[in-house]
Formats: sequence, structure tokens, C-alpha cells
Amino acid sequence: MKKFTCADDIGDIKKALDEAFEIKRDRFAYTDLGRNRTLLMIFFNSSLRTRLSTQKAAMNLGMNVMVLDVNQGAWKLETERGVVMDGDKPEHLLEAIPVMGSFCDMIGVRSFAGLKDKAEDYEERVIEQFIRYSGKPVFSMEAATRHPLQSFADLITIEEFKTVERPKIVMTWAPHPKALPQAVPNSFAEWINKTDYEFVITHPEGYELDPQFVGRATVEYDRKKAFEGADFVYAKNWSAYTDPNYGKVLSTDRNWTVDTDTMKLTNNAFFMHCLPVRRNMIVTDDVIESDRSIVIPEAANREISAQAVIKRILESL
Ligand code: CP
Repeated sequence: MKKFTCADDIGDIKKALDEAFEIKRDRFAYTDLGRNRTLLMIFFNSSLRTRLSTQKAAMNLGMNVMVLDVNQGAWKLETERGVVMDGDKPEHLLEAIPVMGSFCDMIGVRSFAGLKDKAEDYEERVIEQFIRYSGKPVFSMEAATRHPLQSFADLITIEEFKTVERPKIVMTWAPHPKALPQAVPNSFAEWINKTDYEFVITHPEGYELDPQFVGRATVEYDRKKAFEGADFVYAKNWSAYTDPNYGKVLSTDRNWTVDTDTMKLTNNAFFMHCLPVRRNMIVTDDVIESDRSIVIPEAANREISAQAVIKRILESL
């Protein structure tokens, strides 16, 4: 595998899950595979889970790991071609990328959506430039429109906890004070659409996602109806996708906070969230602390999804 930015890059989902569960049974079975290989992790944005889980996954495979926080200690990078660089950015991404590529065997990149220019975000300009100019395999550690390592971990978690073959998955918008990208819900939808699970998305009007990600999901604006019979509730905030409101917060209506009353409508559903989560905005203390909350095993599975992806890349070098 030479790149990993979307669900299609992983190919057959059952095979990918089999590989993930093999790793989970013995995560140190391939410690020789990454010997003398180096992973460079580049962060344009903050991270806790992605940083730790991806680094741990690479170490499990015997790799060396370098981490660069672009906004802390590196030169500020210009990303646009044609700009007269007389401002505060002394280095261009087009030199920085091949230089970074010369020091490693693969690159993980985290670069969020700017939420100002939809076309720029949905063209995935930053990670696409890494793919084009680094000369090395590149994987996403969350890009502008997708977070595939998260979605892969989410799917591993659902497979572990499900008690019926085709569970009902409900992805629900929930309020948040700041404008967040659509990457996590887009990606979750993309990966769930690769399964045969029942899949419902619920959100207030105005928060419609890009139809290419919604796919076969049922969109249900009546939140209570959506929650009925759910086996898994996947909560997430996202900003508006549709024009003219791209990137805007249209509502912080706390009637959409996931609470005990809404969870009572479900089939004793498990609660999921990618974290970090704003308590009592997205979800109440009671729900996230309940025995049906699986946010911690979900986060722990980030190590497994990262290891499955890095292993595939190592095998292709
Ligand atoms: N879920 C997730 O990607 O967490 P971080 O932003 O902390 O990496």
C-alpha cells in the first residue's frame, strides 16, 4: 500500500479487519518488519490519540519514529504556489516536502480543513502535495475531509462489541461551541458504507454532509425516530458543509446533546465518540461514564488501525 487517505485505499474491508484482529492478538509478531525503517509524523494541528497511537504502532513494528510539529519549532510554511514570499513564512512546502521525504521511509500527515474555502479543503491540497512531492508512501493522520485511521478503529470497535450480525448504527450531530471540520463524520460514513450494517445519520437541517460520503445512509431529521432501536450511537459535531454556510456553526442547540433520555430510545446502544469530547455539549457525564460507553476501547483501537496500515505500507517498500 503506497498511500492511505480513504476507505478505498484499504481495499476489502473484511480482509483489513482480519489483519487488524491478527495484530490485536499479538501486536509484537512483526517487530522485525520495521527494523531500520523510519516513520516521520508531521503535525500541522494538535493531537493526543493520533500522536501516541501511531507512534506506538510504529514502535510495535520495530520502526524508528520522528515527530515534527510544524507550528512549534519548524519554519512557518507557505503552501500556495506563486506567492511572493515577503511575509512571515520563510519556507515553501514544495522544498520542505522532498527534504522531509529524504529522511524517512514513510510519512504520516495531519492537516485539518481551513473551513474557509470548500474547494481548497475538498481538493485535499496539503496531503496531496505530500503524496506528489515526498517520494515516499504517505498516510493520513486526519486530513481536511477524512480521518481514516479513526474510522478504521471505529469499525474494529463495532465488530468487537456488536451482538447482532447487522447492527443499527446511528451517527448523530451534537452541539459544539466552535466550527469543526466534517472529516470525522465524512470518514465514518464512508467506512460504514463499506459494511452491510443498517446506517442512519441524524442532524438538524442545514448540517447535510457531502452526498458522496452519505452514500446509502438514511438521513433522518427526527432525532428521536433515528435513535429508536440503535445498537450503536456515534456522536460528533461538524460545521455546515452546504453553501453559503460552509464551515459555519448554525446551531449550538443542546437538545441535541446525547443524554440518558435519548439513549433510552435505543436498543441499549453503545455510545461512541472519537475524542476529544466536550462533556455536556456533545454528551452528558452520565452517558459517557455509563457502562455502555466504549470511547476508551475505541481510542485504544487507534493503535491497532495504525499498526495494520503501517504494516501494509512496510510490506510494500
Ligand atoms: N480522535 C483523534 O484523532 O484524537 P486526536 O485529535 O487527539 O489525535
